[in-house]
Amino acid sequence: MTMRRPLIAGNWKMHKTAEETERFIKELLPKLENVEDIDVLIIPPYTSLDRAGRLLQGKSLQLGAQDVHYETEGAFTGAISTHMLKACGCSYVLVGHSERRELFGDDDTIVARKLNVALDSDLKAILCVGETLSEHDLVEEKITRQLTQDLTGIDAMTLTKITIAYEPIWAIGTGKTATPEVAQETISMIRRWIASHYDEAAAQGMRILYGGSVKPANAKSLLAQPDIDGALVGGAALVAESFAQIVDAARLQ
Ligand code: 13P
Repeated sequence: MTMRRPLIAGNWKMHKTAEETERFIKELLPKLENVEDIDVLIIPPYTSLDRAGRLLQGKSLQLGAQDVHYETEGAFTGAISTHMLKACGCSYVLVGHSERRELFGDDDTIVARKLNVALDSDLKAILCVGETLSEHDLVEEKITRQLTQDLTGIDAMTLTKITIAYEPIWAIGTGKTATPEVAQETISMIRRWIASHYDEAAAQGMRILYGGSVKPANAKSLLAQPDIDGALVGGAALVAESFAQIVDAARLQ
């Protein structure tokens, strides 16, 4: 059986200046000193990435970006390329976060293009999928549609550079976490989908995270589920102490 390395990622969304980012990193790093066997990632806004990248040189705490443009260069006002992200020290990028999909019009075609450009540039991608409350009864249809369209053209080798994050939209920023059982059920469905569209080895190797109101108080029971390989944390990742507690919950599994 493949051992999947857990990932705890903090998506800061539109929070923190470069100065505040520096303060956060200086507070968090000492708390991670004994962390091994877990990937820990912060995903600040673009304007903090350069400062964060300098502070994290040579450290095991990794850096990611919240989005990327699907072209590598050109007349795309306001957009950021994979090359720019890598130059700041990013090793990861989020693709298809529900806020990008719902608020900024990133449809599955755009998500697939972003995923491809990220992987072509040797960034690791975290592909976010999830359903709204009204789609909850049809969760399997929604997520398999997203996976089918977003992973178009991705072969089994390239798939190893992707982490999937299941984030039910009704649980994001609402304080309503999916129960560990519901999260486990959907995430194991995603793993079965990978097995049937790739193969069993790809499915067993695929790291799949849960996201949506993860807090120190509920992290342990979510991470204890056999198919949940980590967490994508929003609000609780903005405070170094609570983020470190979630990392600790992953260590104690
Ligand atoms: P919250 O943890 O604030 O619910 O946000 C989850 C999320 O969207 C992470 O990407």
